[in-house]
Amino acid sequence: MKSFSPLLLASVAAAVPTSLTAEADAPAAIKCPIVFDGRIPSTLALSNFDSYGGGNPFGAEYVKGNDLKWSQILQLPTVSTSRFDAAVNTSGAAPFKAVEVTLSDKSIFQKQHGFRRAGLQFNGDTNTGSPAWKGIKTLHFSVRQDAQRPLNLSHEYLNVWHESSDYSADQIMFQTGTMIDQSSLPKNTFKIFSRQNKLLWSTPMDTSDWQNFALTLDFTKNTVQVYYSKGTAPLASVLAATADDLTGDGEYQLGILKKPTGTSDVVNSGFQETGLNEGQIYGGIFIEDSAGGCISL
Ligand SMILES: *[C@@H]1O[C@H](CO)[C@@H](O)[C@H](O)[C@H]1NC(C)=O
Ligand SMILES: *[C@@H]1O[C@H](CO)[C@@H](O)[C@H](O)[C@H]1NC(C)=O
Repeated sequence: MKSFSPLLLASVAAAVPTSLTAEADAPAAIKCPIVFDGRIPSTLALSNFDSYGGGNPFGAEYVKGNDLKWSQILQLPTVSTSRFDAAVNTSGAAPFKAVEVTLSDKSIFQKQHGFRRAGLQFNGDTNTGSPAWKGIKTLHFSVRQDAQRPLNLSHEYLNVWHESSDYSADQIMFQTGTMIDQSSLPKNTFKIFSRQNKLLWSTPMDTSDWQNFALTLDFTKNTVQVYYSKGTAPLASVLAATADDLTGDGEYQLGILKKPTGTSDVVNSGFQETGLNEGQIYGGIFIEDSAGGCISL
């Protein structure tokens, strides 16, 4: 390996303090064309999530407890504005706000009694031929933890993912907690897995600040690149483009899917605590077109 020149080291060291200052970073501008905008307009009410239109970026029916409405599942928490929700785009649009996805004992979808789940899907993200699953696209999202509704990291959680159109695989998974099949991995980290369940990258879960993620999916090369930052800091690449099989179409989902413990049939059986009151806060959700290497940091 080539050794670093002292001059380069000095300039890097000199550059570090700027990004560590307590001053607020400038809100991020979204530079690339937006394919799906999942940011929550600051005027949106909880009831808007129960129907289509009216500014609801997501589908109204899926994926949630059979007897619950989205307005009973989601919360609009009072938290600081995440990096890309504060972004004013070129048309000077108003800022956006956070949304929290929660789980309760009623978070049972169809007959999946093993899972507790609630997942948002972009309105317009079709199971086959979606504009967000071709070319080169970047999925952005920020997460934040709710001290009043902590996740139980003894369980495996699937928080953000993309499932193939035949439901046989997830091409990319953003998870936390104890992985049932890889229990030696630390539980209190966010982990990004490939379709083959290979750990691509992980970072400790922060319980007091926003954590910002971006996944650049290159469907022409079947690769995933990961960008990350904490708080209001600009994103930085933390994983160079890495092979992942992105074939098979399908849809994105963002929320919480909590797997049970003590079973090999996680969909249908196993143990879930009763009296569940868990949540995860999301902000800055959007997919941009990264053709030509475009990326908002
Ligand atoms: C700016 O944001 C608004 C609100 O999300 C959106 O309707 C509009 O298309 C955006 N404009 C650009 C140029 O991205
Ligand atoms: C967390 O999950 C484990 C495994 O299901 C369970 O034994 C424990 O009681 C749970 N803790 C809380 C605080 O719910």
